Amino acid sequence: MATVEISLASDVLEQTLLEHGQAHLWDVLQQLPERAQRRLRLQLEQVDWASLQQVFREHGEGAATDAFSSPVTDPLATLVLQPVKNLIPQRTSAQDTGWQAALRRGEAHLAQGRVAVVMVAGGQGTRLGYAAPKGMFPIGPISGASLYQWCCEQVRYRIRKHGCAIPYIIMTSDATHDTTLKFFEEHDYFGLPAEDVWFVCQGTLPVFDHETGEVLFTDRETIAVSPDGHGGLLEAFTEQNIWQRLRERGIATLAYHQVDNPLTKICDPGFIGWHLQRGSQVTTKVARKRSAGERMGLVLEVNQVPQVVEYSDIPEDVAGQLDAKGDLRFWAGNTAMHVFDVEFLESVATSTDPLPLHTAHKATPYWADGRCHTPTQPNSIKFERFIFDVLPRAPQTLFIEIDRDTEFQPVKNRTGADSPALCQAAMLRLHRDWLTAAGVIVPEHVPVEISPLVAQEASDLKSLLPTGTTILEPIVITRNA
Ligand code: UTP
Repeated sequence: MATVEISLASDVLEQTLLEHGQAHLWDVLQQLPERAQRRLRLQLEQVDWASLQQVFREHGEGAATDAFSSPVTDPLATLVLQPVKNLIPQRTSAQDTGWQAALRRGEAHLAQGRVAVVMVAGGQGTRLGYAAPKGMFPIGPISGASLYQWCCEQVRYRIRKHGCAIPYIIMTSDATHDTTLKFFEEHDYFGLPAEDVWFVCQGTLPVFDHETGEVLFTDRETIAVSPDGHGGLLEAFTEQNIWQRLRERGIATLAYHQVDNPLTKICDPGFIGWHLQRGSQVTTKVARKRSAGERMGLVLEVNQVPQVVEYSDIPEDVAGQLDAKGDLRFWAGNTAMHVFDVEFLESVATSTDPLPLHTAHKATPYWADGRCHTPTQPNSIKFERFIFDVLPRAPQTLFIEIDRDTEFQPVKNRTGADSPALCQAAMLRLHRDWLTAAGVIVPEHVPVEISPLVAQEASDLKSLLPTGTTILEPIVITRNA
């Protein structure tokens, strides 16, 4: 009986691989020692080959860009594109009653312990070229605090301010998991209660040769894989029972942020409050694009349905359209700061219709002819799912315009645009502005860094530093644990 089951399973896998242009995998599998064979077989059996092959044919073959494609099947030019409508403009005055009400609502929700945070930190950070996971990058302009520390201290600030518990979910991938876990352990979870820091490792997807569509190998017996995108969060949460844990804790709202933007306001009560006031399932902060050609995903309506479209998929004439005032008509860049309704997100995760796959053309080292090759030019197609693809499925969405200078300066590239240097300059500028608003005098050439434990906004400093305080040397303003 057992023999029949095994041979049937192997036939099914062989059949599937043959049908989807992966006969070479079957050949390799046959030559492996038993243990390696079992391991690879298990991995291959979990892959949805039909979907990957279909997406490769539609978007991957001949792809010429290293940006991920949008899985929109019709050319965008044939669809009706409009700016998003449900938009809350930037807060410009402390007296704005709409914002005040949203703030109170968000603060109450936090105080009731109804919010968890997720940080996605599973990316490979290839553009930054940092040897460790990006979250370990020393971003503190003076302190050298890591991105992980910076984010954890923001969560600690919120826990103290609102007198609540906040589960902090860190999504890692094979590329970042072990090192991240060790880093958190070594730093005592950066002062957070260890039981409230939950690590969730996302899944992977095979990497295809861009010409043949065959899966690449990284050595004799291991196929090349890459993390399945931040949208992999949905599957990872389901597999690792996170929905259940959130329910048990009475968590209704999930605040989402990426590891690479230290200016992000984690658990921003105004953001959460607006989301609740408007009955939204997905609320996203948007920032004004600096130019039509800026490499930033756009939030817009496609046939009246809000969604995010990658910059590389927006036709130039659309990106450059101006409104009556002469400003960009499609200005709303995606900042990847979202607030999700947990019940809604779980319903998408457990539906039979997974988020679409995007493809990108990337350089991937591979094993062939008995040795490893390290291409300098893109040679492969990677697949990812993006979390923002839940937007079109939400009955109610909301967008909030933010001030880019104070909330959005991600670390993507080693130098130039979105580099650590620009990010640190933005952090120091923001902290100087807070100090100035609090009546503290800091000469132009003196850098001052303010720990997230101390302040998240100018008003936090007022009670700490008397008006007229003068700072003459570079310092880090922090507080004891
Ligand atoms: P990016 O798309 O900027 O990718 O990720 P990256 O991995 O940081 O950098 P490159 O493109 O390789 O240079 C945006 C956010 O999504 C997370 C990243 O960790 C980052 O916080 N992410 C990305 C994941 O968590 N998993 C993924 O599979 C991809």
